[in-house]
Amino acid sequence: MARLTSRLNRANHRQWMVGMDAHRRGAQTAALPTGDSDIFKFNQLRVRKKQLRFARSSIHAWGLFAMERIEAKEMVIEYIGEVIRQKVADHREKMYEKSGIGSSYLFRIDDDTVIDATKAGNVARFINHCCTPNCIARIITVDGEKKIVIYAKQDIEEGEEITYDYKFPIEVDKIPCLCGSPMCRGTLN
Ligand SMILES: C[S@@+](CC[C@H](N)C(=O)[O-])C[C@H]1O[C@@H](n2cnc3c(N)ncnc32)[C@H](O)[C@@H]1O
Ligand SMILES: [Zn+2]
Repeated sequence: MARLTSRLNRANHRQWMVGMDAHRRGAQTAALPTGDSDIFKFNQLRVRKKQLRFARSSIHAWGLFAMERIEAKEMVIEYIGEVIRQKVADHREKMYEKSGIGSSYLFRIDDDTVIDATKAGNVARFINHCCTPNCIARIITVDGEKKIVIYAKQDIEEGEEITYDYKFPIEVDKIPCLCGSPMCRGTLN
């Protein structure tokens, strides 16, 4: 995993949280009410998980890869983790930073709820950002509970890395983007 300066690291952690919040606000689809087809797809995903594996990525450290073909609009994976309040997330963020955890796996779900996939998460936490991603993250409500689900934006071939756009807000301290897309914006933020 690429080593980051602590300043960049801090920005990185903060941006992941803030960016995911922006993602939630910015992505129009995330704001849509959960439809019957989402619930149906979610139940299907519970029964038969997509074949995915994490491996070294050319984008950053570890990434998540499709081990089977996935069709556009299919649910790829739920972003699972511990559901915590904002205050706890702030405290943990500092703790993780102190203990040198290089990537943050905190994903904001709403104003006071964050999903922490650092210790109790699944492989969705390895999904990297791409400026021309093949997936999108959406928040859906199932049985009254909010869930973060990664959907395929397009057909994904076996072996392809799963990515989505973190949609981080613009900041002065830039985080270089290494997605490698010809349309890369150059920075995550
Ligand atoms: C949730 S982690 C993604 C998994 C990460 N690759 C790992 O091995 O832990 C998010 C972090 O990965 C890094 N990252 C993800 N996509 C990136 C990209 N396109 N360019 C540079 N760094 C990226 C950033 O440090 C970001 O804060
Ligand atoms: Zn990029």
